Order: sequence, then C-alpha cells, then structure tokens
Amino acid sequence: MTASIAQKRTDDTPISAPDSAIEVKNLSKTYKSAFGQPEKIALDNVSLSIPRGSFFALLGPNGAGKSTFINILAGLVMKTSGDAKIWGYDIEDQMRAARRAIGIVPQELNLDPFFTPRELLEVQAGLYGVPQSMRRTDEILDAVGLADKAKSYARTLSGGMRRRLLVAKAMVHSPKILVLDEPTAGVDIELRMQLWDYVRELNRMGTTVLLTTHYLEEAEELCDKVAIINKGNLIACDETKTLLNKMDAKELIITVAEPLEKAPDSLRGFGYNVTLLPGNSLSFQYSPSKVEIAKILELVNEAKLTITDLTTKESDLEDLFLRLTREDNAQHA
Ligand SMILES: Nc1ncnc2c1ncn2[C@@H]1O[C@H](COP(=O)(O)OP(=O)(O)O)[C@@H](O)[C@H]1O
Ligand SMILES: [Mg+2]
Repeated sequence: MTASIAQKRTDDTPISAPDSAIEVKNLSKTYKSAFGQPEKIALDNVSLSIPRGSFFALLGPNGAGKSTFINILAGLVMKTSGDAKIWGYDIEDQMRAARRAIGIVPQELNLDPFFTPRELLEVQAGLYGVPQSMRRTDEILDAVGLADKAKSYARTLSGGMRRRLLVAKAMVHSPKILVLDEPTAGVDIELRMQLWDYVRELNRMGTTVLLTTHYLEEAEELCDKVAIINKGNLIACDETKTLLNKMDAKELIITVAEPLEKAPDSLRGFGYNVTLLPGNSLSFQYSPSKVEIAKILELVNEAKLTITDLTTKESDLEDLFLRLTREDNAQHA
C-alpha cells in the first residue's frame, strides 16, 4: 500500500527541468513476423539525448525507424528493449507524467471525420484535464491557419489542413516537448512557413522541439542539433554546425573570361578536384583542411586566366546525409 502511494507520488512530482528533454538508452524494436512478413528490426540499440530547449531533427531515409522511435515515445508502439525517459519520466513506469510532458503530431492523418477543429481541440483539452480558463483553442487555431475552419467538419478539410489540425491537437495541453513526424509533407509552402513561425516561437519560449522531415534544408535552417538514423542505427548525432564542419568539403566556383574546352591541366593538384562547368566556370571541390583557397587562386592566376566571378558553396545537410547513409549502407551491405 505504502509502496503504491510512494509510486504514485513519484509519478506526479514534477521534476525540475531536466537537462535532457528526451533520453533514450539502448532502445530496440523488432516488429514480430505477421501476415507472411518476416520479423523486422526497426530500431537497433539506439541511445540518444535531446537537450531541453533544443530544436532537434531526426533524419533518415524511408524505413529508417523514425516513426517507430516517435511512436514508442507516444506510447503507440511497445519497445522491445531499452529505456526511454520523457522530461525525466520513464515512459512505462511513469507513463502518465511522461505523456503529459509531450505533444505528438503523428505522421498518419488519423482524425475523427465528424468533429470540427474547435470540437476536436476542446475534447483533447478535456482529455488532458486543461481547465476552461487555461484553454487556448482560438489562439492555436489561428496559429495553424484554421481559424476560419473552426466549425467545419474534419472530413471536409484538405490534407494540408488536417495535418495542421493535428499540430493544433498536439498543442492543447501546452506540452514541454513538441514532436512532429513529417509535419510539412503535403503542406504548401506558405502555410509551411506559417507553421514554422509558430513552432519557432514556441521553441523560443522554451518548448523543446523534435521533428523528422524530408526537407533537409528545413532541418538545416531550423534545427540546432541533428541525429541521423539509417536502418534502425544511429549513425550521427551532433550540433548541425559541427556535423557540417566535419564534412570538410567545400566548393569554389570561378568563372573566367577566356573560353575553355576543358579544365587546364596546370590547375590539377592535390586535395581538390577541378571540373569545367557550362558558362566557362571552373568548379573546385576541395577539403578546407588540406587546401587553402589562396593556393587555388594562385594557380588560376599562373594559368593566365581572368576571373570574372567567384562563389563558394558550403556543404549542406543534404550532402552530409547522402554521404553518411551511403557509407552506412556500404558497410551493412
Ligand atoms: N507495424 C509494423 N509492423 C511491421 N513492420 C513495421 C511496422 N511499422 C514499421 N515497420 C517497419 O519498420 C521499419 C521502420 O519503419 P518506420 O519507423 O515507419 O520508418 P520511417 O518513419 O523512418 O520511414 C520499416 O522497415 C517498416 O516497414
Ligand atoms: Mg515515418
């Protein structure tokens, strides 16, 4: 009896802001074989910590295990082994507190077609015990651009609107952590911007945001930290900037006045590749740790070429993502 009271107290005692909003240790998930399908290892010993207050991207190709990861946190999928904590609460032993700390926008569009957006948010607020005076139904509908659809049945909403309604639904209990699984798939660009403005503002106010997205540019622009998973394995996790620096790959494009048929041999050298692009431009792909830009410019001068334009390109998340998943696939082939 005492034990169960103690247990309950632990469950309800708020933990003062933990360093990790989400902490996952050795998390594995194997889907059992069913309907003639063999069993499937969707997550393989993933350990990951998502700092409180961060804007965190979980990236990976289709089938990598992103939704499995998120659905375990949401309590929709049972883990096979390992531990997961949300805001310091164990997702199994302290399920209620863990659930209250998190708002999840699932990838699947699962909405009751006979509810209006306003009703849906009110029901959800009721489920979480949000008192009338604390409800923010209109503010949230406005933020996701659905104020004028507040009284339309969900079944009459477009795909993009339904997705935004799911975001709204995840927000009603003002969770400390907002998780979005491919939230902008099928949402047009203007509304995507509007959605990100809102989520960014929430993040500024302290909400930790975890998102999966196919738009790597989006992740690069928004997220301060990135984890990449491939075939259920974590293959990278670091600050976005650090990961990109580690790539050690840049491109210098020099346009010259003289018509060229191929890249001059005198320009070939150690630590970079040179190719001729249309428009009389030379592309130097180089490793900043091995070659200095000045050295390349010197060679161009010595070749008696007149520079008319010059640009540099940093590697982006897309390059990193492709490189890492390719290497990992080769290793596990
Ligand atoms: N309910 C399920 N039953 C069996 N296999 C599943 C189930 N859900 C996902 N999978 C498999 O697990 C792997 C990871 O899927 P998922 O987590 O949805 O990846 P992602 O979200 O990164 O695309 C895939 O191979 C997928 O086919
Ligand atoms: Mg998914």
